[in-house]
Amino acid sequence: MRTFFVETYGCQMNQHDSELIEGQLRRQGLEPAPAVGEADLVVLNTCSVRDKPVQKIISRIGALGRLNPAATIGICGCVAEQEAERLLDRSPAVGFVIGPGQTARIREAVRALTQGERPVLTGFDAESEHGFTTIFRKSETRGMVTVIEGCNEFCTFCIVPYTRGRESSRRLTEILDEIRDLASSGVREVELLGQTINAYRCPESGAGLATLLEAAAGVEGLLRVRFITSHPRHFGQDLIDVIAGHPKVFRYLHLPIQSGADPVLARMHRRYTRAEYLELVGRIRRAAPDINLSTDIIVGFPGETEDDFAATIDVLERVRFGQVFAFGFSPRPRTPAARYRPRVAEEVVSDRLQRLFAVTDRISRELNEELVGRVVEVLIDGDSRRDPTHWQGRGEDNRVVNFPKTGREAVGDVVEVAVERAGAHSLAGTISGGAVRLPVIAP
Ligand code: SAM
Ligand code: SF4
Ligand code: F3S
Repeated sequence: MRTFFVETYGCQMNQHDSELIEGQLRRQGLEPAPAVGEADLVVLNTCSVRDKPVQKIISRIGALGRLNPAATIGICGCVAEQEAERLLDRSPAVGFVIGPGQTARIREAVRALTQGERPVLTGFDAESEHGFTTIFRKSETRGMVTVIEGCNEFCTFCIVPYTRGRESSRRLTEILDEIRDLASSGVREVELLGQTINAYRCPESGAGLATLLEAAAGVEGLLRVRFITSHPRHFGQDLIDVIAGHPKVFRYLHLPIQSGADPVLARMHRRYTRAEYLELVGRIRRAAPDINLSTDIIVGFPGETEDDFAATIDVLERVRFGQVFAFGFSPRPRTPAARYRPRVAEEVVSDRLQRLFAVTDRISRELNEELVGRVVEVLIDGDSRRDPTHWQGRGEDNRVVNFPKTGREAVGDVVEVAVERAGAHSLAGTISGGAVRLPVIAP
């Protein structure tokens, strides 16, 4: 076995786990293959948050058998934890199954594989810890850093506590070492990761996210610090104060509400009310008026009435989120909501989703239009997806900005862009100020 290819599905935690997988495989002497069809080992790092992504993985296993019949397939991520041994029956090409709590043991699995075994590593234990130096980072400008693993919330619809285990916070000193290491290698923006990141508590000092964020923002050489995902239930005033007061903390906050109707929120076991959420948003906005908020919505949760849905739309109109991620409810194995009745009919769910997107697209376009004529500071990420003569980057509040290259700037630079046009999902403009190339801090 000489070469590998990793395909990643799902959230930032999986994106980051794939960096660990790649780092471990490279350490073992494997090389990345230029295309999936040419790899000896194909790793699928999977997501099971809804049924659709799981079905995608099942059909991908079949398709890989035709595309690259000689390859061994390794299944990692949340479907691996959920399905475990059953994945071995899907295809003889499946050589190992590794759940998110065991990702760091991939080298052990590859060794077992070469001895003719088909290891299945799932569950959660302290042994699966890894050093951050084995991570192979994909981006030169952005670095992801795990702050807290797992989730204790047990929202009734969600599979994550079952696939990612209970909450476990890393030590603050270890997190800061990793951030300093990133800054010294030229990374400009750090993204702190956790499913309920504001439940973070350092096991050594008891420090919370506000303290961590402030310390991270103080690391020399870093331009921006962002964090995802916050639960509305754990959002303290100390965190609001750091967001409002620290110029390096990103002007963007993802704060999933899931529904705007109290009866639905109660059945979801979210443990906040619509009024409490709106009050929190009010406090955040008063302290940091320039903050760009985004949210997640589940449409068609069992028992959701037309009035409940109207209450969700009403919250969207009141808060005016820059971005909304909305999905139809998908029953997940082992979760209480999978047994809740009545289910909302599929046609009703898709009709509600369409109505919701009409509202959210209008609002985000209106918010983007407010920036036309203004100058925004953009960190260049790479080529624009549609046009290689243009750059794509993100403003300080996470908005995507596309603009023509001038030949004088590079990835990782910060430029001032005069915004000329706005769509629902991005801004377009031209560079108005020179590129700022920040000095790399010597380690
Ligand atoms: N930890 C985050 C939070 O508290 O909101 C969310 C994590 S989850 C991986 C991402 C999003 O997937 C959720 O916010 C929710 O909107 C959606 N989701 C989770 N389970 C779902 C289900 N069974 N059906 C539809 N959407 C679901
Ligand atoms: Fe899932 Fe709820 Fe935990 Fe988010 S807070 S990961 S939605 S159980
Ligand atoms: Fe999916 Fe697992 Fe993330 S279910 S959204 S990959 S935590």
